[in-house]
Formats: sequence, C-alpha cells, structure tokens
Amino acid sequence: MEKMIFGMRNSLRLSALVARKLKAKHYSLLQKNFPDGESYIRFPADVSGKSVVLIQSLHPQPSESLTELYFAICTARELGARHVTAVVPYLAYMRQDKMFNSGECVSSHHMGRMLSAADEIITIDPHLHRYKSLSQVFACKATRLTANSVLSEYLKRHFSNEVVIGPDVESQQWSDEIARAVGLHAIVLKKKRYTSRSVHIKLKRPEAVSGRDVVIVDDIISSGHTMIETIKQTRRARAKRIYCLCVHGIYAENAFKKIMRAGAREVISTNTIQSSTAKIDVSGIIAAALR
Ligand code: R5P
Repeated sequence: MEKMIFGMRNSLRLSALVARKLKAKHYSLLQKNFPDGESYIRFPADVSGKSVVLIQSLHPQPSESLTELYFAICTARELGARHVTAVVPYLAYMRQDKMFNSGECVSSHHMGRMLSAADEIITIDPHLHRYKSLSQVFACKATRLTANSVLSEYLKRHFSNEVVIGPDVESQQWSDEIARAVGLHAIVLKKKRYTSRSVHIKLKRPEAVSGRDVVIVDDIISSGHTMIETIKQTRRARAKRIYCLCVHGIYAENAFKKIMRAGAREVISTNTIQSSTAKIDVSGIIAAALR
C-alpha cells in the first residue's frame, strides 16, 4: 500500500527527508491556532483507503504537540485511512514513569493511551527506564529505533581517541554501544537526581580523563544540569576538550548557553528535534523502519 507522509509542525524538515528517502509523497499537515490558542488541523489530501504516516516530535510544547498528534491520528481514521502510523522521533512524557510522590499523574501512561489510537507507533531512543519495553506504554504495535548507528558513525568521522563518558547508569545503553563501535571503552558515572534542576554527579577515577579529550553521551539534554555537572567533574579532573553528544536536544531554560558556559567545546544532537545542534540525521533510520 502506498504511503502518504504527513509532516507536522515540529518535524517538517525531518519528514521531508524521510519522504524523499522512501520516494513517497510528502505533505505538510495544515495546522494553525485559533485566536484563543486552540489547535486547527486539516489534511490537505484525500487519505481514504491509504496508509498514512504522521511525523511529529513532542517538542517544543509537548502537551500541545501531543494533543495535535492525537487529533491528527483520530482525523485520519475518520477520513477512512486504512492504516495510521505515528512516527514520534522524540517521545515526551517518558520520564514520568512512576508516581514519585503520592497523588501524581503517571503521564507516560496516559500519553500512551492517547497515541494508541494509531495502528503503530515508531519512536527513536525513548527514555525506557522503569518501563522495560514500549508494550508497557502502548496498546498498539510500537517500535523502538535507536540512533546509535548514526551517533557512532559521527564519532568515527569526527573524533579519534577520546574518552566516552556516560553521565549516569541509564546512559550506559548509549555510551557503551557507541564506544564499542569506535573501539573505545565508556566510563559511566554515578548520578543522583534531587529535583529536575538539581543533580549530583561523581567521577570515581579522575585519572581516566586527565589530559584527554572527552565526549559525554546521553539520550536527552533537557535542563542541561546532567551535562553541566559532568563537565564540571571532567574539568576538575583536567580533561582537555569536552564535547557533548545526545540524541534529543531539548535545551530547556537556555540549557545550550549554560552548557557552553560550563566549558563544552561543542554540543551535537540528532535531528529528532530541530535545532542548530542537530547535525546527525536520523531520517535514514526512520525510512528503513517504514519500508
Ligand atoms: C536521565 O536519566 C536522562 O538520561 C538524562 O540524563 C536526563 O534526562 C537529562 O536531563 P537534564 O538535562 O535535565 O539533566
């Protein structure tokens, strides 16, 4: 069945790249806001009987983006689409995966219920921590892709002989695999998070980074505090040049500037979220999964 690729506002560039790779028709979903802020959505082409692919990262404005994606999935169904796939390169709400304090909403669960209106979800490096698999979040088919191959490729092309650092145990799944692909070992640090803006990070063996260039690898840079504290530790240990590499570059509350000010030489991310650091392209990974 021929696929119709619909880019939504957070992912228009990426969706065009995916469509080009698939030699499929690309459309921009018509989106605007009513004067009061409500979302308006319209399909610019007939989707009846077709296989519809919607591409939308849930950043910026995670809640609005989620609502829009949910509206788009439901509308495609009402218009008679045969199959609806939601490609969500960055899947927000995944870090709220348990009730940390009594009375809290476990939002990942409800995000999952909304998006399960689709036949299939495809996402890249979702933050799976307490959930072991996407089947615990979604009632429909859900595929987890990883950007590890393109991150390793980038590392191979641009770096040599750096120390790869994972700032916490959760980042080990990225740092280990990427380091292995370029023939290096990753050092994984210990992190304790107090609040969303406060973390403590410990580098046990400062001699391992002393006099070396380092690449800190993580899945998400959000407030940037994980990167900033890791940079502080590696600088204290007399590391030379410090690079930050991530899959999803959110950069909330001026995080990019703060990370640079803390001493990073460069911050690099994939284009799951559009930004000036998005130098690593994941469109090939998405296209391969859709084929
Ligand atoms: C946490 O487990 C993740 O892997 C990232 O380390 C975290 O989401 C980064 O957040 P922030 O930039 O706010 O420290």
